Amino acid sequence: MKSKKDLLSILDIRDEIPEILDLAIKFKNDEITDKPLEGKSLAMIFQKSSTRTRVSFEVGMYELGGNSLFLSSSDLQLFRGEPISDTAKVLSRYVDGIMIRTFEHQDLVELSNEADVPVINGLTNLEHPCQALADTQTILEKKGSLNVKLAYVGDGNNVCNSLLLISACLGMDISIATPKGYEPDEDIVNEAKSISKETGSKVQITDRVEDVVSDADVVYTDVWVSMGDEEEKEKRRNDLLKYQVNGELMNLASKDAIFMHCLPAIRGEEVGSEVIDGSQSVVIDQAENRLHAQKAILYYLMK
Ligand code: CP
Ligand code: NVA
Repeated sequence: MKSKKDLLSILDIRDEIPEILDLAIKFKNDEITDKPLEGKSLAMIFQKSSTRTRVSFEVGMYELGGNSLFLSSSDLQLFRGEPISDTAKVLSRYVDGIMIRTFEHQDLVELSNEADVPVINGLTNLEHPCQALADTQTILEKKGSLNVKLAYVGDGNNVCNSLLLISACLGMDISIATPKGYEPDEDIVNEAKSISKETGSKVQITDRVEDVVSDADVVYTDVWVSMGDEEEKEKRRNDLLKYQVNGELMNLASKDAIFMHCLPAIRGEEVGSEVIDGSQSVVIDQAENRLHAQKAILYYLMK
């Protein structure tokens, strides 16, 4: 039995989320300035594109005194057919942690099972836990507490799944509106509902978008076509049309509600420019928090 810590899912850090958020806030406030990861290296495997995740991990490692290696699909033998197990074992001899952004969540699990060093989920088709941590930090910062109603509108995707789990774990109320067939992952919904019984979080999943946004303190959406869903582009655009977060929908939320999006965003699809570029939008601060949350995750897993 390996004793390393991983972050594959929000469930892996269920009891440590408050500690990690506290660290993220300390990093943002420059309260931790030593170089806790001096001499350590992080391998970063990217099978999908990235701006925020790549740059925040790379800068985060540098600021913590460590080093990072960007390994794209065109670089690694993994993508020419080398087994995940060999890749995991070999990388474990060189580096102190592995971050991976990939398609199948099962590939991440296999990598973690075979690696001797901490493995971090930089996004799979199932979850995006690093994003959910930065998002929670942003909500805390903007609303002063997690005693809020979070409305998620649109595709019940990886970002939605991780937000659902983190909300349930932290006792935050979450209402999700998706069209039929676009609901979040069934196992994650069941897990979140079971956790919410202990934490007091209210979890609602419906196709009625107005119900969800009504009186919400936070309105959150993500793209309709995630990386890997490109073949369904036209169908998704039609099916999700009524789930656009535009000015009219935003007016149903609390007057002081904030708008969040993990980015990248497509204006005119899941969100209107009047919302994402308007005064209620916090998306750039949210993106900044990826750096602080990333440092907290790296510190927690690799120190
Ligand atoms: N939100 C997010 O993960 O952004 P990137 O795809 O740019 O990393
Ligand atoms: N749901 C999106 C998130 C991108 C950060 C995707 O998986 O492409």
